[in-house]
Amino acid sequence: MRYDTPSLTRWPAPGGSGASDSSFGYVSAQGAPLVELLDPRPGERVLDLGCGTGALTSEIHSRGAEVLGIDGSAAMIEKALAHYPGLDFIIGDGHDFSVAEPYDAVFSNAALHWMSKDPSAVIANVRDALRPGGRFVAELGGAGNCAAMIAAMSTAWREYGLREPELPWFFPTPAEYATRLEQGGFAVRLLEYFDRPTPLDECPDGAADWVRVFGAPLLEGLPPDLVDPLLRRVNELAAPALRRETGWMADYVRLRFAAVRR
Ligand SMILES: C[S@@+](CC[C@H](N)C(=O)[O-])C[C@H]1O[C@@H](n2cnc3c(N)ncnc32)[C@H](O)[C@@H]1O
Repeated sequence: MRYDTPSLTRWPAPGGSGASDSSFGYVSAQGAPLVELLDPRPGERVLDLGCGTGALTSEIHSRGAEVLGIDGSAAMIEKALAHYPGLDFIIGDGHDFSVAEPYDAVFSNAALHWMSKDPSAVIANVRDALRPGGRFVAELGGAGNCAAMIAAMSTAWREYGLREPELPWFFPTPAEYATRLEQGGFAVRLLEYFDRPTPLDECPDGAADWVRVFGAPLLEGLPPDLVDPLLRRVNELAAPALRRETGWMADYVRLRFAAVRR
């Protein structure tokens, strides 16, 4: 697909897919430092890949940049257009997009790990969307992200006689992602790999709620009456690692980087 900002189509909401983040504002709230790292300047053209409902796209725009938000989910784009009617948002897949006019920067928060089919193809598309010297600034889940959560899911699935869940995410090590970036034509300027335990304040049912929202693809096709007991078991198994006195805490591990198109 090729996207040209001046001739953007404003898509209706054909149903879409992907988890709604309406109650998961912490995802974009934790992206605020990434906007600082991007350091958008007035007049710059910035593409936000996997923009979700557009909170960070709007933040970047508020610094004076021209923005385009792209997301694979029609439902997300519908919400983004409703929240920020003056901004440009379009449905698109990170594996399959191109732009007519190069951008000064591509930004992405908490989205690249969902583009797991071919991460190098995503990097190639980002490179082609940037002018030489353009910046790619992003954060994604890194190796070990949600390890306790995933272990609890695997055990629960096994106990219920289900096939090991096929995880929809790509959580690379810093070395792996840096290699992909370098091979994809980027010079890596900064790469951080850090634990970020994250309170699941908006998940009253703890790990089970997290799976319902972020692991929704794993629940598709399961017998409906199995889902609740299965997720109750995930909670039991995950609780020793993830439930604190103050509430549930997700064991997030992040990769944050800034790279420049060579
Ligand atoms: C956790 S949300 C993050 C949204 C936003 N960046 C933020 O920080 O609030 C991940 C987003 O990636 C989008 N996404 C997943 N796979 C995608 C793909 N292949 N191409 C484009 N967007 C994708 C999802 O629809 C979702 O909106």
